[in-house]
Amino acid sequence: MKAPNIETNSYLIRPFKTSDAELWQKWDIDPEVQAFMPEPFNEVQDIEEQYKYIEECEADEEGCYWSIETKNGTTIGTVALTEINEYHKIANLGIVIGDKNHWGKGVATEVITAIVAHAFEQLHLCRISAEVEEGNVGMIKVFKKVGFKQDGLLESARLKNTKRINVHHFGFVKPSCKVKSK
Ligand SMILES: CC(C)(COP(=O)(O)OP(=O)(O)OC[C@H]1O[C@@H](n2cnc3c(N)ncnc32)[C@H](O)[C@@H]1OP(=O)(O)O)[C@@H](O)C(=O)NCCC(=O)NCCS
Repeated sequence: MKAPNIETNSYLIRPFKTSDAELWQKWDIDPEVQAFMPEPFNEVQDIEEQYKYIEECEADEEGCYWSIETKNGTTIGTVALTEINEYHKIANLGIVIGDKNHWGKGVATEVITAIVAHAFEQLHLCRISAEVEEGNVGMIKVFKKVGFKQDGLLESARLKNTKRINVHHFGFVKPSCKVKSK
């Protein structure tokens, strides 16, 4: 699905460029960035594979993938809506601020707020879901701050460093889509 440019007060959320792949190679080997990722790389990925991944994302009819850029043109992360289901009007959200200099400065809060607005208003989705590994305090705080509600704990849902771990499940329902109580 074509990802449009989305401008927020401080950031430009734009489609991937091939030059992003070199940044991903740095982020992929940063243990702090990878600590709570579902499939941590922890090793340099082949640049040709990264270019292929960009092409796959562009061809993905059920996904919208963006890079996050500061207003002075520094690329600092990625955000995506995946598994967009137009019948049920649902999607999953994932985000990585790969440039740690920008952690704790409100980037994820501002970007996720804008992506949720885009999903509800432009894509006419009703619900956005997200999974967060236990211990990812920052991500949990961001989702709650933006308006997501925790709707479950997926017990022992992932393998991490040979150990099983729990995963929090979050959801944000567009107010007009809420199930009316009888
Ligand atoms: C998790 C992540 C997205 C947070 O992004 P961010 O831009 O730093 O988040 P924000 O600045 O919007 O933070 C919002 C709030 O959470 C707090 N916060 C952020 N990271 C935190 C952390 N590690 N520990 C405690 N609080 C944290 C901020 O201080 C802020 O608090 P405030 O509202 O009281 O001021 C970012 O650290 C990241 O990309 N990490 C690596 C990849 C990752 O884990 N992605 C998520 C996979 S599910």
